[in-house]
Amino acid sequence: MTTSPQALRALEWIDAGALRIIDQRELPGRLSRVDLASADDVIDAIRTLAVRGANSIGSAGAFGFALGVRDGEEPRAVAARVAAARPTAVALREGVAQAAAAVSEGGSWRDAVRVGTALLEQDVEDCARIGEAGRIELAGATSILTHCNTGILATAGIGTALGVVYAKAAAGEDVHVYSTETRPLRQGLRLTVWELQQAEIPVTALVDSAAAALLHSGAVDAVVVGADRIAANGDTANKVGTFSVALAARDAGVPFYVAAPLSAVDVTAADGGAIPIELRGAEEVLREDPGSAPLAAADTDVWNPSFDVTPARLIDGIITERGVAHPDLGLGLAALARPA
Ligand code: MRU
Repeated sequence: MTTSPQALRALEWIDAGALRIIDQRELPGRLSRVDLASADDVIDAIRTLAVRGANSIGSAGAFGFALGVRDGEEPRAVAARVAAARPTAVALREGVAQAAAAVSEGGSWRDAVRVGTALLEQDVEDCARIGEAGRIELAGATSILTHCNTGILATAGIGTALGVVYAKAAAGEDVHVYSTETRPLRQGLRLTVWELQQAEIPVTALVDSAAAALLHSGAVDAVVVGADRIAANGDTANKVGTFSVALAARDAGVPFYVAAPLSAVDVTAADGGAIPIELRGAEEVLREDPGSAPLAAADTDVWNPSFDVTPARLIDGIITERGVAHPDLGLGLAALARPA
């Protein structure tokens, strides 16, 4: 593998007092880094998907909170602002909450930075364990379809669903990835394809609407996707389009897996109906790129949910850092979460 997470580093804290990120809006054309030096910078980067992926926005949220407190903002106010930047990934809410707890327990903004750093380290470890658990679970699966981007760019480590792919490649196993385009912002085509090419892992891109035909062709051994939030019963919110892939996979008899850390499980959400789904602007659907001519009348009414919920009944397993939960997913997740 030519690219390691250490070499790419989607996000890192720098001693000058800023969060340095790879600006994912610029990929694959340009690998550029920006320093986020205030809570507002972090909020803007999260909202515009300069930094993205559930794991990464969780850590970024802790650093954003720290920067706000450093700059004199009232802790509860900055915590609420940062946590609201994107509603679906439970990691953002939790990252901010953990950083806020460190400050409310008498700590300074530097303690909140330490929480962010610990979250990055935990993420690296969780991804490695998820990758290995997935590699064992999916032994013999060489052709994997994934949706959106869940790899080095979305985490501090090797990724979740893509972590399984990197673990297979690192073990010398044959692996070929089919990456959906992932409309409207094309995280699959722009980011997953790019990072797998950096790692010299074979990848084939397809438009989202070709996934059902590909799954029915027999070319795919397993689907593996990430998660932004998993309800207590296993219903899983992930990038919009995941639900369609799961329906097609079930119909084609292809196993469908979610890969995510146990911290993505929100036990306060009994089922997927309790997961808040982010709605984004019409511009993302109407324009190929910001600033390009609209593909339909600029005032066209658009429904643009960023995520959808795949019901637990369509999921064959949830791959976590503590092993794989199989149906009944609610019971399986609860057993994995129990202290050892
Ligand atoms: O809108 P995005 O690009 O942040 O959506 C990302 C996803 O849906 C990922 O699958 C999920 O966050 C897991 S990333 C390890």
